[in-house]
Amino acid sequence: EQPLKVALLGCGVVGSEVARMLVDSADDFTARIGRPLELVGIGVRRAGVERPGIDSALFTTDTEALVRRGDVDLVIEVIGGIEPAKSLILTAMEHGASVVTANKALLAEAGTDLFSAAEAAGVDLYFEAAVAGAIPIIRPLRESLVGDEITAVMGIVNGTTNFILDKMHGQGTGYADALAEAQALGYAEADPTADVEGFDAAAKAAILAGLAFHSRVRGVEVHREGITEITRSDIASAKAMGCVVKLLAICELSGEGAEATINARVHPAMIPEDHPLASVGGAYNAVFVESKAAGRLMFYGPGAGGSPTASAVLGDLVTVARNRTRHTRGPGESTYAQRPVHSIGEV
Ligand code: HSE
Repeated sequence: EQPLKVALLGCGVVGSEVARMLVDSADDFTARIGRPLELVGIGVRRAGVERPGIDSALFTTDTEALVRRGDVDLVIEVIGGIEPAKSLILTAMEHGASVVTANKALLAEAGTDLFSAAEAAGVDLYFEAAVAGAIPIIRPLRESLVGDEITAVMGIVNGTTNFILDKMHGQGTGYADALAEAQALGYAEADPTADVEGFDAAAKAAILAGLAFHSRVRGVEVHREGITEITRSDIASAKAMGCVVKLLAICELSGEGAEATINARVHPAMIPEDHPLASVGGAYNAVFVESKAAGRLMFYGPGAGGSPTASAVLGDLVTVARNRTRHTRGPGESTYAQRPVHSIGEV
């Protein structure tokens, strides 16, 4: 059987883990897909950086050429940010590749463009790794719960800020030291401003709200407040009241049909110590979903870091590879079709 050709765009914390796992578990992937995968190239920004366990012959700084080859079946984008990631994904799709991305900022800003391009090209766009790292939350919202009516999605969706707040609360660590540790552990974005100012959580909230409420929500429509103003004395006061401070993302739907209002916001909140969200420590995430028929569900697990995020990326890769092998596609644009008119509520 002909291998499916895979191109990897980006080789940072997540990308290098993806590349290693692809090589180390090649036989398992072949068995699970029914066809072998062949990693044909890894697009990187700088040449000459060694990554242990990855064949350096795969590296190229001409990432554009990689997506223009025309024979690539599957593209994994883990560069992050808007450009060049957006242009590379659109070009890859125009050339017939299905795309797996972990890029929440891009999906929250230009999801409509990406989905339209995927639809026009007849390819898949999967993004489980974009929200809450290893936790399966995109597929449950897009597929498992799509027969139900979701009314709220809320929780902790940024590992870096949860790690920082947890350290400040548990060990009295200062903000700057806790942030440095989160960066060293590979949890933070390239520019940690996105984490600590709440942009990363707001992008994730927009993605979750769009999927849950069958609408389109952009990151800029999410009310956002980060954790940079939180001091040790705020933490101490919360503690004295039997509470912890957590950065929460809250997405709610009120009203029916075209009259429905979506409210999406990200801000620090005081949580009683005996609340399930209070015990979410380190870079873990937790997402609660409330729906009419199912009731209340909780999703919990590692929300950031190289190998947890790689797990979600590779799960998507197997799915889109299977789809391609069987000449089928995943849910696509129809996920968002129901509620084209909505208003974003004021906080
Ligand atoms: N910087 C993100 C976080 C990575 O800390 O949650 C996962 O999206």
